[in-house]
Amino acid sequence: MRTELIHLDREHPDREAIERAGRVIRRGGLCAFPTETVYGLGGDALNPEAARKIYAAKGRPSDNPLIVHIADPERLPAIAAVLPPAADKLMDAFWPGPLTIILPKKELVPDATSGGLPTVAVRMPADPVALQLIRASGGYIAAPSANASGRPSPTSAAHVMQDLSGRIEMVLDGGETEIGLESTIVDLTEEIPVVLRPGFINRDMLERVLGEVHLDPGLTDAGKDSGIRPKAPGMRYRHYAPSAPLYVIEGEEEAVIAKLKELALSAVRAGLRPGIIASDMTAPIYAGVLPEGKSLICAVGDRKEDRTIARNLFRTLREFDDGDVDVIYSEAFDTPQLGMAIMNRLLKAAGHQVIDAGGFFKHWEQ
Ligand code: TXA
Ligand code: MG
Repeated sequence: MRTELIHLDREHPDREAIERAGRVIRRGGLCAFPTETVYGLGGDALNPEAARKIYAAKGRPSDNPLIVHIADPERLPAIAAVLPPAADKLMDAFWPGPLTIILPKKELVPDATSGGLPTVAVRMPADPVALQLIRASGGYIAAPSANASGRPSPTSAAHVMQDLSGRIEMVLDGGETEIGLESTIVDLTEEIPVVLRPGFINRDMLERVLGEVHLDPGLTDAGKDSGIRPKAPGMRYRHYAPSAPLYVIEGEEEAVIAKLKELALSAVRAGLRPGIIASDMTAPIYAGVLPEGKSLICAVGDRKEDRTIARNLFRTLREFDDGDVDVIYSEAFDTPQLGMAIMNRLLKAAGHQVIDAGGFFKHWEQ
């Protein structure tokens, strides 16, 4: 199959192109599209055959449920069996936006979309292309991140093409995504709401709207050590993994820099080419000590503006795959706002290989 790539102006997308993409989805085909978080691989959420095609295109296990994207909150009652007050509060505060809520599902949502679960994940994205496409497609688009299973989520149409070209009908290119990490997922089927996946909408923001909010114990080290598995099936898989082994260096800033220099230098001495994930501030420090051309140093963003780190993280992980490195060392990014979301993705990419550099560390889980 030839994948058609269509460039769109994000704010004023061409109507005709959106209509064409909508027809692809209504006929049961697949079209990738931008959202404010990451690119999604869209199919008709109410058509089990489309869901099966999504799993096949991504190479994703079919017990991993899909998020249903809507463009109007009025579409929610048709697919959710129960609408607790917390759902209204979250929709008012954060929709359209990077927040997914889990609710008991209605019959209309096929098991193929919900991965056999009795619940459904729903999100109303903020991106104008996404919203118009959802409306042109019948109102309900099932969309996982548009990467091949195991690869970092795509933050540009080029990433989608790298992974899925030849496997889907169409890709809508709306430029780079704004947020760069997948939506926050909140489970509203428990008495106290539970964060199943941290994201741009952090726990503080949720608690201001809802009161007490729990973090899925399967996401924390304590939970893992006691054998608790994450409730969101997708959070159980190793993910985002670059082909070279990745280690995250935790600790007080000076100690991290010293440790990372030492590790990278000894890799070079052993004839290996190390990759380094640093901040804008620290990247020049490593560049100053490592012999030129013998390493790949990526500045991922500014710690004081941690949304820049979120935005660049997945692209950086992909660059290491193209960059021919033998081992990757990353600083930990335990920043106040988005540290939990960033560290969740980074530690997953590292398969939880952590090196403790020592010194004070404000742990990202607190
Ligand atoms: O930002 C996002 O959410 C992006 C864009 C495209 O909207 N989508 C996305 O979808 O990240 P995906 O499929 O890559 O991740 C969905 C996650 C998976 O971990 C899945 O297991 C979980 O949501 N999930 C979906 N339905 C669920 C349910 N009913 N109960 C628990 N977890 C669920
Ligand atoms: Mg995904």
